[in-house]
Amino acid sequence: MFATENLIFRGLEDDDLENILRLRNDPLVQRTLTFSAIAPAPSSKYKEHMKTFAEGSALWFSLVHKKNYEYVGFCCINLLEAKNRDARLGVTIASRFWGKGYGTEATRFTVNHAFKQFGLQRISLDVTEGNARARAVYTKLGFKEEGRKRRGNWIDGHWEDIIAMGVLDEEWAELHPDSRQL
Ligand SMILES: CC(C)(COP(=O)(O)OP(=O)(O)OC[C@H]1O[C@@H](n2cnc3c(N)ncnc32)[C@H](O)[C@@H]1OP(=O)(O)O)[C@@H](O)C(=O)NCCC(=O)NCCS
Repeated sequence: MFATENLIFRGLEDDDLENILRLRNDPLVQRTLTFSAIAPAPSSKYKEHMKTFAEGSALWFSLVHKKNYEYVGFCCINLLEAKNRDARLGVTIASRFWGKGYGTEATRFTVNHAFKQFGLQRISLDVTEGNARARAVYTKLGFKEEGRKRRGNWIDGHWEDIIAMGVLDEEWAELHPDSRQL
């Protein structure tokens, strides 16, 4: 278990799955997903899928608030190709907590931890063009746009691109000199 200024980072607990389903069914969160339309997920199937996904992740953090242990969201790291020391970052914060700096705080700690503990040389992610909030967080922390899948996502009656972003270990270390001590 780890802690930053506002958040506790702990492993998956069975009770988290109900909260993860709630996140998945929040239309504000659904708008950021490319793999499904804005529609409710079947509960038992989705919870089972997320349990398997979390348990199969190289790193899974359930995030709870330090003050009252309220569920805030999750961060995860999934190895892409072991030989290339490349991994995919995932982060989701419950919408009632957006705009308080928690997404930045959670992403920063998770990326630090992944670089330090897994010997990765890069961390990758995909983000939709319209997800300005996520793009702001990633760009602020040092992720760079590396490519675009044109018309990758259909949303609200129009197409948008899916943007590939990534950060290299030396870029991260330069931008976050304190990361070595975390
Ligand atoms: C993306 C996400 C993790 C961000 O979490 P958060 O707690 O709101 O993030 P923070 O409060 O740390 O930062 C939000 C930043 O977005 C900026 N922002 C908000 N709305 C914006 C907009 N419309 N355009 C540009 N920037 C915007 C804020 O100004 C802030 O940047 P700042 O700290 O430099 O001022 C959260 O919105 C989320 O979980 N979304 C749903 C799932 C998701 O999109 N995951 C990422 C998929 S790739």
